Amino acid sequence: MGKIGFQSIFRKLNMVKFRIQYLVICIAIASIWILSCSSTKQTSGTASSSDEDMDKLIAKMSVEEKVGQMIQINLDVICEGGIFNLVEPHHIEKTKLKTAIHQWHVGSVLNCGGHAYPIAQWHEIISLIQEETTISHTKIPVLYGIDAIHGANYVMGSTLFPQQLAQAATFSPNLTSDAAAITAYETRAAGIPWNFSPVLDVARNPNWSRYFETFGEDPLVCSRFGKAMIEGYQGNTNSPDAMHVAACMKHFLGYSGARTGKDRTPSYLSDIELCEIYLPSFKAAIAAGAMSVMINSGEINGIPVHANPIILTELLRNELKFQGVAVTDWEDVMKLHQIHRVSAGMKESVKMAVDAGIDMCMVPNDFEFAKYLIELVKEGKISMARINQSVKRILVMKKRLGLFDQKFTPAKTAYPLFGSESHRRAALQTALESITLLKNEGNVLPLKKEQKIFLTGPASNSMTILNGAWTRTWQGVDEKYNDASQMTINDVMKKMAGDQLSWTEGCGLESIDNTDAAILAASKCDVVVVCLGEKPCTEKPGDIESLHLPDAQREYVKRLHKTGKPIVIVLVENRPRIIEDIEKLCQAVVMAYLPGDQGGKAIAQILYGEVNPSGKLPFTYPRNEQSILLYDHKYSEELDVNFQFNAFQPQWPFGFGMGYAEIEYSPITLSTDVLRGEGKLVARIFITNKGNRSAKEAVLLFSRDHVASITPSVKKLRDFVKIELAAGETREVSFEIDRNMLSFINARFESITEAGQFDIMIGNQIKTFTYQL
Ligand code: BGC
Repeated sequence: MGKIGFQSIFRKLNMVKFRIQYLVICIAIASIWILSCSSTKQTSGTASSSDEDMDKLIAKMSVEEKVGQMIQINLDVICEGGIFNLVEPHHIEKTKLKTAIHQWHVGSVLNCGGHAYPIAQWHEIISLIQEETTISHTKIPVLYGIDAIHGANYVMGSTLFPQQLAQAATFSPNLTSDAAAITAYETRAAGIPWNFSPVLDVARNPNWSRYFETFGEDPLVCSRFGKAMIEGYQGNTNSPDAMHVAACMKHFLGYSGARTGKDRTPSYLSDIELCEIYLPSFKAAIAAGAMSVMINSGEINGIPVHANPIILTELLRNELKFQGVAVTDWEDVMKLHQIHRVSAGMKESVKMAVDAGIDMCMVPNDFEFAKYLIELVKEGKISMARINQSVKRILVMKKRLGLFDQKFTPAKTAYPLFGSESHRRAALQTALESITLLKNEGNVLPLKKEQKIFLTGPASNSMTILNGAWTRTWQGVDEKYNDASQMTINDVMKKMAGDQLSWTEGCGLESIDNTDAAILAASKCDVVVVCLGEKPCTEKPGDIESLHLPDAQREYVKRLHKTGKPIVIVLVENRPRIIEDIEKLCQAVVMAYLPGDQGGKAIAQILYGEVNPSGKLPFTYPRNEQSILLYDHKYSEELDVNFQFNAFQPQWPFGFGMGYAEIEYSPITLSTDVLRGEGKLVARIFITNKGNRSAKEAVLLFSRDHVASITPSVKKLRDFVKIELAAGETREVSFEIDRNMLSFINARFESITEAGQFDIMIGNQIKTFTYQL
């Protein structure tokens, strides 16, 4: 991104703090933009010359047909029964389908009508929709979109991977690109070509209900994993074949920055923060060829993002050069008047959102958007050129996904690896590499086969808790859709330990009753393994009033502690819930995140030491509710009440995670003590596995600026790599450092590196060097 663009865009964002100024600017920008769109020079959404056939098609379309392409409806709208109240089993209602296709010319359909379907049912649904399009005037196929968030979760029998946060803990983006390729394959097997994933929001507030959907708190980790996921989905191209799908980076921009941590509440973000923290993952995704983007449902500094042309056009299109389709999030045009109240009614909201730059509206439950957009075009309030621009982006996407080839659903035999053992092994490997050992006093782990284990806790025998939300249903709580062939932690440990294992749930997620029987069982064992968790949830239903792990579960651990037995806590949670009081009572803590269907196996294999843990935290685990500091906080945040630099006391720091083998880092050596101008510096370190078993180690490189014109962070992650070491092996790891790696966003929104001294930190080692311009 050029400096000039950043400067001008963020200067404008600064200026729009007052609504009147904002409106004036919006009108000015919108007019300049519309003018530029109607000229021959298109700055965004421009398809290549090979897409001229789409222009020819657009030329033959009526305004109604064009506008229809810009609407996306929920599957419920065309099914038997009412919206959110479909008749089981779900079937398409022909008359509703005909209305959608022939009267409203609907361009896109999403979702699954409440729960996952088997492949055959997906084929039936998609063929019926597409066959209807073949008898329409334009014959333009429908673009079907779905949330395949951690595997093709709305296709029964598919492989379910760990959620994104767990994937980030592997510090191995290759695992994520493999997971995404499998997800794409299994999504296409159902006949669906478009996936609303990845989430590229950076998790800066652990209260946020969608924390687990992110790659954690660091922009570099989010960028690398986002890129890997997009490459896996799309197969490294922007014309995905029948084994791949179009990715949709979401939610642009600043969605996760909500001040309260409650979903879809306002973000108040400085421009520097937007630029430095929230933007890089999207920038990397665009460079990786992401074919679509979904917009942030919330507002930033008082302006709903769906109505902000500076973010949606100037930044996204003109500056970042994004050429794909911009889809709104759920009902977000309507929410401009119903919730945000920046417009007086639907018609004004439609105009605002289209002027701001959206291409497709996830309406999704009626045809209001189309009705008003048609009126606005006919009244000359929105130009045909503007409509053509969005329609072309949508049609080009359809073309690149092969939809015009009219092969709507694949042959039953086309995807033999769907839900296969090899796909499940990939999910298991990701889960294994994500699980993070946070505490292991007296080497209570790994467990020994001869030990009597008491397994307990609400997450110990639940598939839904292992998987979390977006599992067969939106909130993922309905057990009846679970894959019966998959195993809970208890199922697997029972198989491994036989009679040495006893189990009882002991307490619920939020309720505790008489625990006498559980306490008696605990008192008879050698080690207690208590699996704590969080109810699957996301979006609004996932808002919480306290970050503490629910009282009932903490109370249960306190009762178990009274037996005097060593306690291992396994955490299966959506976000880092505070456990300060019970952490002190246990000998070991294993963070499992939301490990998916293979989580039971992975947790058991780690607990019994069949696999050496190698995950590291992609976030800072807070100790206290009032001390939510992130790893890249400022020095002033470290000052405590006594003015000592020790106020940063997280439960566990970002990047922390142990294995069963001791890993030693040698001192760092630098190729030079002075990095000059555009030059490069190589930092080398030797890493030794001192243990007697092989180990994987994520090696993280941080830097910090001694003095800078914007208060520097205490550290910033600049690079990482994961290596494997045999027992006793030493390996050299080197990182190349240039000035870009040390940069920050200054007061003029320039990405710069100022001359001076820097520290680099790798493991427990630190080294200082000087940068000269
Ligand atoms: C979520 C999106 C999701 C969409 C479609 C919205 O409520 O915010 O992330 O892609 O629904 O299911």
